[in-house]
Amino acid sequence: MLFRLLAPAVWSHFLSLVCCSEQTGAGLAACTLGSLKGRGFSAEGDIIIGGIFPVHYNKVFPDTPFTELPGPTRCEIFSQRSYRWVQTMVFAINEINQNATLLPNLTLGFGIYDTCGAVHRGIEGALWMMSGQEVLVPGYRCLPGTPLAAIIGDAGSRISLAIARILGLYSYPLISYFATVPQLSDRRQFPSFFRTIPSDVFQVQGLVRLMQHFGWSWLGLLASEDDYGQMGSQILQKELLQSGACLAFHETVPLLYDKRKIQRIVQVVKSSSAKAIIVFTFESFLMPVVVEMARQNVTGKVWVATEGWSTSHNLANRELLKTMDGTIGFAIRRADIPGLREHLLSVSPNSPTNKSLVKLFWEEMFKCKWPDIQDNLGGSQQLCTGQENLSQLGMATAYSDVSNLRISYNIYNAVYAAAHALHDLHSCKPGEGPFANGGCANIRDFEPWQVIHTKSTILYRQDSQSYLLILVKE
Ligand SMILES: *[C@@H]1O[C@H](CO)[C@@H](O)[C@H](O)[C@H]1NC(C)=O
Ligand SMILES: *[C@@H]1O[C@H](CO)[C@@H](O)[C@H](O)[C@H]1NC(C)=O
Ligand SMILES: *[C@@H]1O[C@H](CO)[C@@H](O)[C@H](O)[C@H]1NC(C)=O
Ligand SMILES: *[C@@H]1O[C@H](CO)[C@@H](O)[C@H](O)[C@H]1NC(C)=O
Ligand SMILES: *[C@@H]1O[C@H](CO)[C@@H](O)[C@H](O)[C@H]1NC(C)=O
Repeated sequence: MLFRLLAPAVWSHFLSLVCCSEQTGAGLAACTLGSLKGRGFSAEGDIIIGGIFPVHYNKVFPDTPFTELPGPTRCEIFSQRSYRWVQTMVFAINEINQNATLLPNLTLGFGIYDTCGAVHRGIEGALWMMSGQEVLVPGYRCLPGTPLAAIIGDAGSRISLAIARILGLYSYPLISYFATVPQLSDRRQFPSFFRTIPSDVFQVQGLVRLMQHFGWSWLGLLASEDDYGQMGSQILQKELLQSGACLAFHETVPLLYDKRKIQRIVQVVKSSSAKAIIVFTFESFLMPVVVEMARQNVTGKVWVATEGWSTSHNLANRELLKTMDGTIGFAIRRADIPGLREHLLSVSPNSPTNKSLVKLFWEEMFKCKWPDIQDNLGGSQQLCTGQENLSQLGMATAYSDVSNLRISYNIYNAVYAAAHALHDLHSCKPGEGPFANGGCANIRDFEPWQVIHTKSTILYRQDSQSYLLILVKE
């Protein structure tokens, strides 16, 4: 049994060494890790930029009996906000392709992958992009002439940590727009990781100063059960205690829904005399806790938000406001992206990128169903026609609301960082270049590590320190 399971794995590893010279499709199929059709979408170009996004959340792992091939992870809830991030990346790439001074004569293409918030899917996506094809060949890019320059992603620190270790092996730049754990700044562990969002080290300093400013020294602390929550709350706890504050409680928010744990947290918060509670988590994990607080009429607490949830639409809704009223917290800076709104509204299942992702998006926005999509879990039986009109949904959707672009702006910057790095490579003059004997890279056939050796990317190694203080008020 064991042999039967191991043999194909060993063979595929061995065969992958010769795979790139194999020209026939049959040769490729024999030596790869299996197809990932339908989980991402791509556009061709001279150079590819990858994007990794949690378009869905609430993953459901299938039961694995170990006697058959594991089924795919089911991804349940479509996130309109994350799909806006995806389209912001597409928008930035289109804008760069139309710009006559930035990367003239070169077209950027992309590959975009939905991680569903699962670490193994993040790794899968990274391998898909590195292989450059539907079938995976780790470490080999089998499409000559279309190098992968960088991967933009992931949103979460947990998945970014996993991908950054693998990309670090091959020196592919990974530029995250939302991963804030301090550990990712460690150059020895993550030599090719960059980000357009500050490390939590700065946020913790800000939180401690904010507490001192208000004279709040008896505090509660909630943190999600992931790298972001655990690492962030550990440094925060240390700094708070050093500043003379005391912690009434330090509770862990589960990542998967767990009624018993959630009721316990609500009980602890209700019975504690601490009025100010710092919460180090993301919106999706905090949501069930807040819903339960509202159900039990918990009021009179001051919630202190980290940037992971401070600007959440869903947590500031009418039913939850009696509990969340007065929330204060840090957010990363906001910016406008001219033209983005028009781009978002022009997305359509009739345009060339009409792959499954845009169809799932359409089902989410119009509560309709495509007859050819099997895995949607919505209850609606009304069929989608493709003639539905996004403009008529108004400004109210999390997808089309461009009044609060923060993570979207980080994504926009990340794509531009990659483009500027490539531009530096492209405009290198032989004899003055950064490589051996003043050499330059060949823009149509460069090595991933060469992208890191440019002036532009060096800027993004430094963590910026600007935050904004925000207050949620009814
Ligand atoms: C093209 O890109 C450069 C560099 O980012 C920028 O300064 C310029 O404004 C852009 N041009 C247009 C027409 O967007
Ligand atoms: C653009 O690319 C083509 C084909 O690679 C090349 O022949 C041409 O000289 C390039 N033009 C510029 C302005 O770089
Ligand atoms: C919460 O308050 C509402 C109205 O004030 C009340 O009807 C409900 O019973 C309360 N729920 C709990 C769990 O105390
Ligand atoms: C998707 O695009 C293809 C070609 O671009 C087109 O033939 C097809 O009708 C489109 N499908 C939908 C549902 O719009
Ligand atoms: C969608 O609606 C807007 C505003 O109502 C209108 O201007 C636009 O032409 C419509 N688009 C399509 C494709 O019907």
